[in-house]
Amino acid sequence: MARVALVTGGMGGLGEAVCIKLAALNYHVVTTYSPGNTKADEWLAGMKAQGFNFRAYPCDVADYESAKQCVAIIEKEVGPIDVLVNNAGITRDMTFKKMDKVNWDAVIHTNLDSVFNMTKPVCDGMTDRGWGRIINISSVNGQKGAFGQTNYSAAKAGMHGFTKALALEVARKGVTVNTISPGYIGTKMVMAIDKTVLDTKIIPQIPMARLGKPEEVAGLVAYLSSEEAAFLTGANIAINGGQHMQ
Ligand code: CAA
Ligand code: NAP
Repeated sequence: MARVALVTGGMGGLGEAVCIKLAALNYHVVTTYSPGNTKADEWLAGMKAQGFNFRAYPCDVADYESAKQCVAIIEKEVGPIDVLVNNAGITRDMTFKKMDKVNWDAVIHTNLDSVFNMTKPVCDGMTDRGWGRIINISSVNGQKGAFGQTNYSAAKAGMHGFTKALALEVARKGVTVNTISPGYIGTKMVMAIDKTVLDTKIIPQIPMARLGKPEEVAGLVAYLSSEEAAFLTGANIAINGGQHMQ
């Protein structure tokens, strides 16, 4: 039977590419969208026209009850979740001098608390069944820091601490937990950066002198989701055009 993969934020740039890649590999793909997203039906129809029959559920990943209810509905309507891709995320960039508590909290809740909120209702089922893949989408800026991103860099670095700790706890139960740290990928998140900042401060830091493509990250998600990746856990895999090497 096809494995069920849940991709949070699947209607965004990276998430969509991940949904498409996993569907092409015969996973039964389910995604989430923000409860306020009015374009979900349009996205689903567009995907259907391309031959992808995704299911999508509203879920505020920053809210524990919303995440718990969403997972319960998916498991009832679709089946147990085998692969969880914690992908949903936001930026609220500003220098620390301008950073207020609202923008700090928004990013920590959406990008870090969400990893707990989504993984908690899914993880015990995976360990009970003896198979699971948890993939956390972090960022190069969690590894190296970024000007204007104290909130985002903290949340993304925190994701990897979570990955390493949980990987230890579930290693003997057939469940792997890994982090992917993409560099700058050409999605709306990056296109929202002021063009002058992008051209003068960011692209020059990338040895490949270009943005990454969502499909390049999706291929790595597919590998980490696979049977072959069973011995790979607790890793933080960089995919950043050479911008940051560890
Ligand atoms: N490095 C060094 N100095 C920088 C800088 C940088 N990256 N960015 C700005 N500065 C400098 C400016 O040159 C300026 O210097 P002077 O005062 O000497 O002129 C000073 O900092 C203030 O800059 P701004 O006037 O631009 O400040 P601002 O408050 O208007 O904007 C900012 C600050 C919003 C952080 C803006 O610089 C910015 O958008 N930076 C990009 C942040 C970024 O990379 N975000 C990534 C989003 S995508 C993402 O997060 C995906 C992922 O995971 C990779
Ligand atoms: P994007 O196009 O802006 O997509 C972000 C997705 O997150 C959207 O689908 C959005 O759903 C969802 N989301 C945001 N807040 C949510 C919430 N509270 N509840 C549920 N869903 C929520 O951005 P992207 O570039 O694809 O980014 C995807 C992930 O990759 C993020 O975690 C990001 O930090 C990370 N990343 C991106 C880059 C990059 O360069 N693009 C680099 C490194 C890491 P709605 O549209 O329904 O709100």
